[in-house]
Amino acid sequence: KKRYNITLLPGDGIGPEVISIAKNVLQQAGSLEGLEFSFKEMAVGGAALDLVGVPLPEETLTAAKEADAVLLGAIGGYKWDKNEKHLKPETGLLQLRAGLKVFANLRPATVLPQLVDASTLKREVAEGVDLMVVRELTGGIYFGQPRGIKTNENGEEVGFNTEVYAAHEIDRIARVAFETARKRRGKLCSVDKANVLEASILWRKRVTALAAEYPDVELSHMYVDNAAMQLVRDPKQFDTIVTNNIFGDILSDEASMITGSIGMLPSASLSDSGPGVFEPIHGSAPDIAGQDKANPLATILSAAMLLKYGLGEEKAAKRIEDAVLAALNKGLRTGDIHSAGTKLVGCKEMGEEVLKSVDSQVPAS
Ligand code: NAD
Ligand code: IPM
Ligand code: MN
Repeated sequence: KKRYNITLLPGDGIGPEVISIAKNVLQQAGSLEGLEFSFKEMAVGGAALDLVGVPLPEETLTAAKEADAVLLGAIGGYKWDKNEKHLKPETGLLQLRAGLKVFANLRPATVLPQLVDASTLKREVAEGVDLMVVRELTGGIYFGQPRGIKTNENGEEVGFNTEVYAAHEIDRIARVAFETARKRRGKLCSVDKANVLEASILWRKRVTALAAEYPDVELSHMYVDNAAMQLVRDPKQFDTIVTNNIFGDILSDEASMITGSIGMLPSASLSDSGPGVFEPIHGSAPDIAGQDKANPLATILSAAMLLKYGLGEEKAAKRIEDAVLAALNKGLRTGDIHSAGTKLVGCKEMGEEVLKSVDSQVPAS
């Protein structure tokens, strides 16, 4: 039996609700493929602030580093929103990403045939969309110096941040994107703001130079404002999108809605070596937390990405993906993807159905 150590970081809000389900699904799919998981649950975000006063305790980062992979729920909530910057739940998540050096964030947006009617876009626009956002995750304006809030010479407060990318940071995310596109439909669109920002001018220059090494990939460039528009005008034009940290954050939330809901989108955050972090792209959804309303599928599908991208266990990953489709085929829908003619269920019931479907599958060939 193959053994893996998984560090679970449930976090806040709906995080613990979706993680407890995804954990069971991961364990079950793995066991059918002869994999044994040992889970270690650690505190992050607001939960860690309440427990020990910091959003990323050292023991949590250590447990994450020592794991084969990390499965994270979500962090954040009203309770901590007024905290100082270094004591915000969000700071803990950023410290985790930086600490594990997970610079490459893969966010696939796939419109499942079962959910075409859950999309707010017209059927003919949404149907068949299958794109991958490759988001740079450990650089850019999220981490750039200088940053802060100061008082200027007129006694007025000024907030400032810095969008900064070094050539090597651009090159390594671009390589991941070219490789990703190569394994998909061979089309890569680099999204930037090179008409205004120097960091984007360098971004475009480096990505363009690297294209010579990937002659089989068709590279195009697009300004981010146009990309935001094109995503809802004709999302099928996109295969793989590569972009910086903040544009990737925004465009992936936008792309999620094409698929029906932000509650559907998983992600994988990968480094050059060492464990990846796997998490839904959504947040802690404080407006529905504790009400058994959250869609657990984004986190369940993140567990599938953990198996595929984190552990190389593609068969077990496929079991999870198939089980999600089976639950949807039965007509079960959480509120965010509910439409006429389908059955409204809660987070737990959806999770139990996926778990049952994992069990009832014939072994994959
Ligand atoms: P959010 O993603 O938490 O919620 C946005 C909207 O989508 C809400 O109406 C919510 O109910 C809905 N939603 C999100 N996930 C859902 C799911 N699985 N099923 C059904 N509906 C779902 O974003 P927000 O409201 O802007 O942020 C809330 C908190 O989460 C903030 O503290 C924010 O910083 C944090 N956040 C954390 C992460 C993360 O942990 N990676 C990501 C985004 C936001
Ligand atoms: C995400 C979130 C985070 C981000 C926040 C909570 C720091 O929005 O994972 O998409 O901006 O990266
Ligand atoms: Mn986000």
